[in-house]
Amino acid sequence: MQIIDGKKIAGEIKGEIAEEVIRMQAAGRRPPHLAAVLVGHDGGSETYVAHKVKACEEVGFRSTLIRYEDDIAESGLLSCIARLNADAEVDGFIVQLPLPGHIDEQKIIEAVLPSKDVDGFHPVNVGRMSIGLPCFVPATPLGIIELLRRYRIDTCGKHCVVLGRSNIVGKPVSLLMAQKTQPGDATVTICHSRTKNLADITRQADIIISALGQPEFLTADMVKDGVVLIDVGTTRVPSQETKSGWKLKGDVKFDEVAPKCSYITPVPGGVGPMTIVSLLRNTLQAAQQR
Ligand code: GUN
Repeated sequence: MQIIDGKKIAGEIKGEIAEEVIRMQAAGRRPPHLAAVLVGHDGGSETYVAHKVKACEEVGFRSTLIRYEDDIAESGLLSCIARLNADAEVDGFIVQLPLPGHIDEQKIIEAVLPSKDVDGFHPVNVGRMSIGLPCFVPATPLGIIELLRRYRIDTCGKHCVVLGRSNIVGKPVSLLMAQKTQPGDATVTICHSRTKNLADITRQADIIISALGQPEFLTADMVKDGVVLIDVGTTRVPSQETKSGWKLKGDVKFDEVAPKCSYITPVPGGVGPMTIVSLLRNTLQAAQQR
């Protein structure tokens, strides 16, 4: 059993990006610039955005954090997006999700210029990805594919079971795993809350990508020996062991499942750091395409 060290790989990729930023500046270009829009004070969103901004600093990017209270009107947020779309100094930007209930999330996503949509959530980027055209791929799926690539995990002809059908992870990673590439070329099954006999399906999987957000859902009896397990779950559960009063739990009951795996990602330190670094990759791509 080998633990997939997402933190280490993310560190290597950050080093590669930092070198590219130095090359860009030596050629007289300004560093890439990522803007992040954060509405409200959700604890998880605050943490994610803080990590994204810090990662920008680490690789020499410029970053701008724009904050709004959670009573901002949808029209106010749309005006902010219009300004960012028009700002030649901003290469790419994200609007952290989820948004408050009075704001139409899809309307916000579709307001972002596809060429600045480094989250890869705009229908133009989703559509381009689905037919294998150059685009921005959402950060978590991009990070998962990069982990499989860097660990040289053979996916060709393998049965990949994806748990979860979200627009951010489940759907895009399913498409990427099925496409005619390496990593890719897998036979993909998507499971979700309405799937019947889930354990019968997961037991047939050579690769499981779990993006359910249900802590310790996947147990040893649900997987076969030698499975590759990619755990995307990051649920905050109350804990007396930490100063914050919570800790992150994946979808996988790690201690009992890990011994059966050929490869497994830990939580934290697996997919999470790769998500952040993939956003940096997309921002670099946005800057280079301008
Ligand atoms: N909320 C959870 N994941 C993401 C993400 O990748 N991007 C944005 N913008 N919001 C999120």
